[in-house]
Amino acid sequence: MSNNIHRIAICTGGGDAPGLNAVIRSVVVAASNRGWECYGIRDGFNGILFPERYSEGGVFRLTLDRVRGIAHLGGTILGSTNKGNPLHFPIKMPDGSTKEIDRTDEILEYFALKELDALVSIGGDGSLTIANALHEKGLRVVSVPKTIDNDLDKTVTTFGFDTAVAFATECLDRLHSTAESHQRVMVVEVMGRYAGWIALHTGIAGNAHAILIPEIPFDLDKVAAMIASRDVGGHPYTIVLVSEGAEPLHGHREVVEQAEIGHAERLGGIGEQIGKSLQELTGKETRVVVLGHLLRGGSPTSFDRLVAMRFGTAAVRALAEGQTGIMVALAFPNVNYVAMKDVAGRMKGVPLDCDTLQTGRDLGISFGD
Ligand code: F6P
Repeated sequence: MSNNIHRIAICTGGGDAPGLNAVIRSVVVAASNRGWECYGIRDGFNGILFPERYSEGGVFRLTLDRVRGIAHLGGTILGSTNKGNPLHFPIKMPDGSTKEIDRTDEILEYFALKELDALVSIGGDGSLTIANALHEKGLRVVSVPKTIDNDLDKTVTTFGFDTAVAFATECLDRLHSTAESHQRVMVVEVMGRYAGWIALHTGIAGNAHAILIPEIPFDLDKVAAMIASRDVGGHPYTIVLVSEGAEPLHGHREVVEQAEIGHAERLGGIGEQIGKSLQELTGKETRVVVLGHLLRGGSPTSFDRLVAMRFGTAAVRALAEGQTGIMVALAFPNVNYVAMKDVAGRMKGVPLDCDTLQTGRDLGISFGD
């Protein structure tokens, strides 16, 4: 046993991302090799907070057999949720209003009762904030960063992002030929929340003609002018890639569901708006494709799988070394550790001076500015 660890628990929180199962397997294998027992908490912390929902138990033993053959699978065998944050848990009051309460003490009590010595929390920014709060209350916690959005600070990348970009790029490749055949404008909306990473990387790799990201408010007149100049130049079709969080210069972000206690607002709809406006402005037939949750599915690329395995085993090494309150991060060429408090609540957007953005500009791609 190292650092008095006998039993650890693992949970996955927030939107799923390809690579979660590879992390789970890596943690279980590396921990089992040290003689530790592993337990999986279902659906974020719901397995602890709502045990009655799970006939087979909200927390279950993760044996080597249970994690065999899962590293290449999308999703998470533990389940996940981006609702019901235990720090801001919504409860209905008798008068119909909703009040929020902090339920993290119940999680700590469960760990003490079941003699669980540490937690490996795999998730994005929301999960990090919860993990950090649990750490500050005395739980031994190591976080593993996950999100297709790539918007977590202090790590070069998160697993899931490469898989999302690879799939979206393949979609753009397919849309080029149909757009060209019909001389249409194709507007493609991708996820990414308030960061434009998925759109930027996909748009450059997939040769989009315009990329609209939250970091650069866009002017559709400029995009329409670019489309017109392509027509004049003998290329009467255009691919416009838009990030769900992109905003017009004099407008607002499109939201499909407002934030409520316990869950964040849901973005979406900007693709449709842009499609309509560009059809009016250019007179060209326009079609809109929303890739949405397709970006979250599928088998992780070998890059994401490897990052996930490096993160999972590094999390176990960190616990064995007696570390807590840290997040595993990628700092090429190595994995390192950063304090969770320095990452939680900080979003990493696309820096306006980054070379990838400059690459797009040098290749003649419009950013709508
Ligand atoms: O953070 C991952 C993500 O897929 C975002 O890109 C997107 O805005 C959000 O989750 C969608 O959440 P939901 O699964 O609740 O629709």
